[in-house]
Amino acid sequence: MAFKQDFLWGGATAANQYEGAYLTDGKGLNTSDVMTVGSATKSRSITWRNPTTGETGSNPAGWGGPTRVVPEGTVPADVAGYYYPSHEGTDFYHHYQEDIALMGEMGFKTFRLSMNWARIFPTGEETQPNQAGLDFYDRVFDECKKYNIEPLVTLSHYETPLALAINYNGWASRKLIGFFENYATTVIKHYQGKVKYWLTFNEINCMEFAPFVAGGVIDGTPQNKAQAAHNQLVASAKVVKAAHAIDPTIQIGQMLAYGPLYAYTCDPEDQIKVMEGMQQSSFYSDVQTGGHYPEYQWKRYERQGITLDDRPEDYDLLAQYPADFLSFSCYGSNVVTTHEETAKSDGNLGQGGIKNPYLETNAWGWATDPEVLRLALNTLTDRYHKPLWIVENGIGWADEIAADGKVHDDYRIKYLQANIGSMKRAVDLDGVDLMGYTMWGCIDLVSAGTGEMKKRYGFVYVDRDDAGHGTLNRMPKDSFYWYKKVIANNGADL
Ligand code: BG6
Repeated sequence: MAFKQDFLWGGATAANQYEGAYLTDGKGLNTSDVMTVGSATKSRSITWRNPTTGETGSNPAGWGGPTRVVPEGTVPADVAGYYYPSHEGTDFYHHYQEDIALMGEMGFKTFRLSMNWARIFPTGEETQPNQAGLDFYDRVFDECKKYNIEPLVTLSHYETPLALAINYNGWASRKLIGFFENYATTVIKHYQGKVKYWLTFNEINCMEFAPFVAGGVIDGTPQNKAQAAHNQLVASAKVVKAAHAIDPTIQIGQMLAYGPLYAYTCDPEDQIKVMEGMQQSSFYSDVQTGGHYPEYQWKRYERQGITLDDRPEDYDLLAQYPADFLSFSCYGSNVVTTHEETAKSDGNLGQGGIKNPYLETNAWGWATDPEVLRLALNTLTDRYHKPLWIVENGIGWADEIAADGKVHDDYRIKYLQANIGSMKRAVDLDGVDLMGYTMWGCIDLVSAGTGEMKKRYGFVYVDRDDAGHGTLNRMPKDSFYWYKKVIANNGADL
């Protein structure tokens, strides 16, 4: 038997893509609430308003857009006439009982969700939490308990209270460390006994590519991104310290976006490109899980003329309070080269590369790599020797309802058979210490990259389209029944 008896099988979601109810019961606006819908070929935009003239507009931004996401003199704002998919998501807020029952039916042992910071502290600066927000998650966790589902809660998944972005340039300010610490300790205390596993920042290395999405940074210069990353890393260590003081059985994990890079040729220059590319993400895990800033990062900052607003005690905190476990998302691998090559592909965080001729891709250019999880799990084990948890993996597909009224997603089953098979080999053949697996977007939700509904990941279909039309009715797909069997036999038979 490859997996532990208490292996945490389940699914993952994020409030900004799933929860909806964007102003209900006192919630404040988030950064994600001002991001419009896009598509595979058109990037999402951030809408803005000039507070003096009242002029409004939108900037293509978010993923790989300009350094400054809105024009000088304007602020990101919720503007009438635009469609914002986060505002309703797929309405988990009003469907949580039904959705958790479906997870229970599949046999989920765990459910990864994120807590919406602005639902608890609407502007991020309040000293007292919003009781209605706390009550909502109490209802959610009580529902999970009915089915013996262990929640895994991300404190910040691609959303920062909008007021903090506007007033402080988001995480570029050290002020955010204190605001986040207050939020985190409030909820960790409040849900003590109900939530044991927490993650601080979703895909913390997203700061490299989309600082507004990752940390509400409006002016994402290299200096501001480096400072924002430092502030989040210090905040994470403070949360580990505080959580262990509240209850030593609580575990705080790091969450990293991980995708191995492959060299397109055996030219040594290509291997160096791979190494440097991997350092861009391993910097975040070297600090948050490893406890130390790596030398390569200091050298990089030196070359870029970056100096951090830091304190000696920051580094003590980082060393003393690393993450208890390392969780990561992994959808596939990417290929890089120093040679001319025009066949491009896309990938998570907009970080595509060269098309891999050995792999199949979906309609958004993301490749299915049948060995990626074994590689990822081994590499991360060798580097950190900490328990690992795969908290995102899956495939986006424009599912269609067939003539019989069902969704026959054999392509999803095929993807998951390959990926879970690879994960199983890492446990079976290599002995990696793996805590669990949560498939991304277990109930259909909005895509983070494009804002579309069409890019679906779920075991459960939700009736909603890219313009926000649909009944929001839920319907299990074929993969629902397949995953139920996988959980029931603890991955023995895929
Ligand atoms: C990860 C994010 O980057 O990938 C999720 O943590 C996201 O929020 C997922 O939804 C899949 O990406 P996309 O762009 O297909 O939604």
